[in-house]
Amino acid sequence: MKVALAYSGGLDTSVCIPLLKERYGAREVISVVVDVGQPDEDLKRGNERGEKLSDLHVIIDAKAEFVKDYIFPLIKANGDYEGYVLGTAIARPLIAKKVAEVAIKEGANAVAHGCTGKGNDQLRFDAVFRAMGLEVIAPMRELKFVRSEEIEYAKEKGIDVPVKKDTPWSIDENLWSRSIEGGRLEDPSFIPPEEIFAWTKSPEDAPDTPHLLKITFREGVPVALDGKLLDGTELIRKLNEIAGEHGVGRTDIIEDRVLGLKARENYEHPAATVLIKAHRDLEQLVLTRNELRFKEVVDARWSELVYQGLLLDPLYDDLNAFIDSTQKRVSGEVTVKLYKGSMQILGRSSEFALYREDWVSFDSEGGIDPMAADGFSKFHGLQARMCRTGR
Ligand code: ARG
Repeated sequence: MKVALAYSGGLDTSVCIPLLKERYGAREVISVVVDVGQPDEDLKRGNERGEKLSDLHVIIDAKAEFVKDYIFPLIKANGDYEGYVLGTAIARPLIAKKVAEVAIKEGANAVAHGCTGKGNDQLRFDAVFRAMGLEVIAPMRELKFVRSEEIEYAKEKGIDVPVKKDTPWSIDENLWSRSIEGGRLEDPSFIPPEEIFAWTKSPEDAPDTPHLLKITFREGVPVALDGKLLDGTELIRKLNEIAGEHGVGRTDIIEDRVLGLKARENYEHPAATVLIKAHRDLEQLVLTRNELRFKEVVDARWSELVYQGLLLDPLYDDLNAFIDSTQKRVSGEVTVKLYKGSMQILGRSSEFALYREDWVSFDSEGGIDPMAADGFSKFHGLQARMCRTGR
């Protein structure tokens, strides 16, 4: 049997390699690292370990595809699930797809992942693997290992896993966001220590001078910072740096997992905070009230589907078709201020603005007939008036 494994280089997925051979009878294990913008050290470690432990190690750079086909649609949909910017969620289906493609190309009989039976990631991987017609093996879920047994087994297999007792966090990182869970953070009343953060300065330590930044959007996606055109990956990296320096983009929430378990989650996502808030603001300027009201519902449904990892549900394409159609006019510029953990909109403009200063202004009449409003007003609240006064 040949198995392709979604590999990160961490403890869980490393232990999966000998487990697949010993407990599942795999003759050949292919470790697949998919680069969605995780830190260079993680990728390096993953590649070194993968080369050493598996029979074939494959590295796939999926950053450009991640940005174009996953993050950009997320920005257009103002992706948000209970306050979570969907960082891990949006990357999993892409990772799964890439691993499945390797499995198919190499003629593997099954695909595997290192997720436990408690989280969302198992569901996200499984949904894509199965929709692509593949058998799934999930050793960490099926063998019910507890952490200590796993570490023991890793040592036995010569896997040098530096699990430091003082930093027992489980971290998942990609271009869009970084999540930190586990250890003492599992007590929802425990105050996160500063050391869990890597992308954001604490607001107290952020510069005393605010940073003003102009973001240009074209058809719903960000294309430039302060007028400088940037490729999507670069733009997100740069904005993560700038906004992170100002302490923008931290979230600490209780989140409802797909299984129904509530979990305490900490996230860092500077660029996501800035881009989504700015994008939403621009939409407010260019979309009609009707579009805005309906899109709110579509965006929420989109986010729920992405959280569940159900990107292969035809509904996902249907929702994207609607969203894309609205985004044709979402072009323009938004100026924001970053200051000590906060991000504020300072101004916006667009050639598609549904805004007319002379109409709305206190200083001009702008051709608006006030008596037309008077007539409108007589019908406004008609039924409520009848209920209350009987006429
Ligand atoms: N709660 C987030 C989610 O479900 C983050 C999960 C992080 N995953 C991980 N394996 N560390 O998307």
